[in-house]
Amino acid sequence: MTAQSPAATRVLVTGATGFLGRQVLRALMAHPRARPVAACRNPARLPADFPGEVRSGDLLDAGYRRRVVRDVDVVCHTGTWGAFWGHADAERTHFLEPALDLLEQSRRAGVRRFLLASTVAVAAPSRDGSPVDDFAPPAPTGFWPHADRLIELDRRMEQTAGRDGTGMVTLRLGHFVGAGNTLGLVPALVPRLRTRLVPWLAGGRGRLALTADTDLGEGVALAALADGLEPYESFNICGPEFPTMREVVGFLAAETGLPAPRFSVSYGAGYAFGRLMEALHPVLPGSSPFLTRSLVRVAEDRYCPTDYAERKLGYVPKKDWRTAVRESLDELRPRGFPWPRLAQRV
Ligand SMILES: NC(=O)c1ccc[n+]([C@@H]2O[C@H](COP(=O)([O-])OP(=O)(O)OC[C@H]3O[C@@H](n4cnc5c(N)ncnc54)[C@H](OP(=O)(O)O)[C@@H]3O)[C@@H](O)[C@H]2O)c1
Repeated sequence: MTAQSPAATRVLVTGATGFLGRQVLRALMAHPRARPVAACRNPARLPADFPGEVRSGDLLDAGYRRRVVRDVDVVCHTGTWGAFWGHADAERTHFLEPALDLLEQSRRAGVRRFLLASTVAVAAPSRDGSPVDDFAPPAPTGFWPHADRLIELDRRMEQTAGRDGTGMVTLRLGHFVGAGNTLGLVPALVPRLRTRLVPWLAGGRGRLALTADTDLGEGVALAALADGLEPYESFNICGPEFPTMREVVGFLAAETGLPAPRFSVSYGAGYAFGRLMEALHPVLPGSSPFLTRSLVRVAEDRYCPTDYAERKLGYVPKKDWRTAVRESLDELRPRGFPWPRLAQRV
């Protein structure tokens, strides 16, 4: 770790033991201007070389939420409960309500900046191939409570931005790829490909906004430390390329020896099948539905350029998606590509 100046920015990272949180911690550890503070439930799972302050506790505990944001400059809310389908009540009690309160406690504690790890999937997909702007209006799904609660939280951030000097930054992160990612496209797709029941969606022509592990960490760290931001900001944080579904699934198939899809259906048919699978999930075997409507939503065409993040944050994505996907596969292969739960445990 680099020596820190006394004026280093104290950055609290929630979910510091999660996939995203670990990447953010690592990026901040390498940054001379940052003093990262790890917030997590189980400090034993933090990187062994993390030298900084640890504040352990559960974000469902109101007292902890009040204490954890004291004496920090920036809060990166990167550790949240979440699910790829349904769970509407838990999304309120385990995600939205604690997050709204953490936001309020941060403001009261005089935190200068609050960052939210959101997703590119809150906006509507590219229409006619056009880019999706960083500030494109969020488009509630009506079927994916996690995305819809993220939109609600973002709206509150925009409404209260700058109040008491607390700036708000929404990060529209691309779909995560890399070793250690458990709730994501690669771990979800590979066991499904094995069933030979996965179709192309719209011919596999949709571009996927993927972001590799280290680019995620760097993007969030830069947004935590940047000078000259407006009271409310929103940034696309994606990788250097936007491969099509056909390229990504073709690559997965080639790397694993599994068959690529043999037929294609429209997004509409994908949504209808996803809805059916979600409805039948309680009576079918398995921890999660075979297809969820959220998976269809993330597979829609999304070209979300990062020029604004480059201009204001100096964010330049570097890691090739193929490298990150390969690293993820190398980690999952010895475990036989297990079926992941598409929801965190309540
Ligand atoms: N997957 C994607 O492609 C994607 C894309 C864009 C945005 N996101 C957002 O990024 C978030 C983080 O994703 P991830 O892949 O890093 O998930 P993850 O690996 O499951 O990490 C989630 C973290 O949140 C912590 N956490 C959950 N409930 C908590 C609580 N009550 N108190 C304290 N900590 C709690 C977990 O703690 P433990 O380690 O103790 O379990 C874990 O460290 C997601 O929720 C999602 O909203 C995801």
